[in-house]
Amino acid sequence: ERGGYKHFMRKEIHEQPEVVEATLRGRIDLAEGDVYAAEMGVTPEVAQSIRRVYFVACGTSHHAAIAGRYWMEQLAKVPSVVELASEVRYREPLFYPDDLVIAVSQSGETADTLAAVKAAKAGGARILAVANVLDSAIPRMADGALYTHAGPEIGVASTKCFTTQLAALLLLAVYMGRRRSTLPQERAQKVLQALWEIPSHQREVLGDADYVHAIAKKLVHAKDVLFLGRGLGFPIALEGALKLKEISYAHAEGYAAGEMKHGPIALIDEQLPVVAVCPRDAQYEKMHSNLQEVRAREGQVIAIATKGDEAMLELAQHIVWIPKAPDEVMPLLTVLPLQLIAYFVANLKGNDVDQPRNLAKTVTVE
Ligand code: F6R
Repeated sequence: ERGGYKHFMRKEIHEQPEVVEATLRGRIDLAEGDVYAAEMGVTPEVAQSIRRVYFVACGTSHHAAIAGRYWMEQLAKVPSVVELASEVRYREPLFYPDDLVIAVSQSGETADTLAAVKAAKAGGARILAVANVLDSAIPRMADGALYTHAGPEIGVASTKCFTTQLAALLLLAVYMGRRRSTLPQERAQKVLQALWEIPSHQREVLGDADYVHAIAKKLVHAKDVLFLGRGLGFPIALEGALKLKEISYAHAEGYAAGEMKHGPIALIDEQLPVVAVCPRDAQYEKMHSNLQEVRAREGQVIAIATKGDEAMLELAQHIVWIPKAPDEVMPLLTVLPLQLIAYFVANLKGNDVDQPRNLAKTVTVE
């Protein structure tokens, strides 16, 4: 049942190319540069009338939502916010009828996310669920659903559901951008083409697992690990840190690299491994200077970098190379080595990777 792998988590990590394909299948028209997903219940009229997108989610799904906001703003030009569901439900959140509230939830049953959806519904907002489990509570309460077709995820630490959420949210941003005429056809074609090619790039990254294993060996005794990223690399840094915490029980922190100077730089010394999400994208130059600051303080850098980026050789002690790809799709690649690092560290420590202590797969209580 684990397909020859020792753990479900490892199997699910390696399933990502095929499940991302499943999420994309039948929804992309490359020739038109468009996306089809009528099941979302977001008609062209609705897409045009939305004034704000309001993402709610928890945990890993919250990280996917942060990327979702980035795409929604950049490609569809809709003002967007992301909120932790557990915070929204106890504030007095304000919703408008022309809000599109996007609840991102693998299980579709997370109590906090469901409560946030109820509050949004009471406020008159339109609800769209991005969920994996068919006909679960959140999609049932929503006006429409965009399902990620990741199949059942058994490992408690979410992996394949995260990348399919990313794929679904990027599709959604393209859909919205096309309906609102904010995304030119040519750019939409480029983004969709890049997304279409992602599974084969993912296969390439996952094929390099041995090298990642060697890096994980260096991290087994680390008590703290800092993960840094910017732009679309920021939610990936958060996700890398969460994965490591969950299954290896090491303390890890994900940080927006631009915030380094505002505090975390004080932590850096030769003891602190810093994992940098640093592909050749629009944020590259800024990330590069952050890493110079880390090196100046003797921090140990493990970089996720784009093949051919020679400059990285001088900055990082260890590098996981990822293939070149357009900026928009980068998170679907950069997260893979971070999932593998967490997996290998936890496994080297002898932890129960699929059933980490204290955690439940679906949090149906607060
Ligand atoms: C992390 C993880 C959790 C979930 C969170 C939300 O690996 O699995 O952080 O992402 O509990 O769950 P869903 O997406 O089911 O609402």
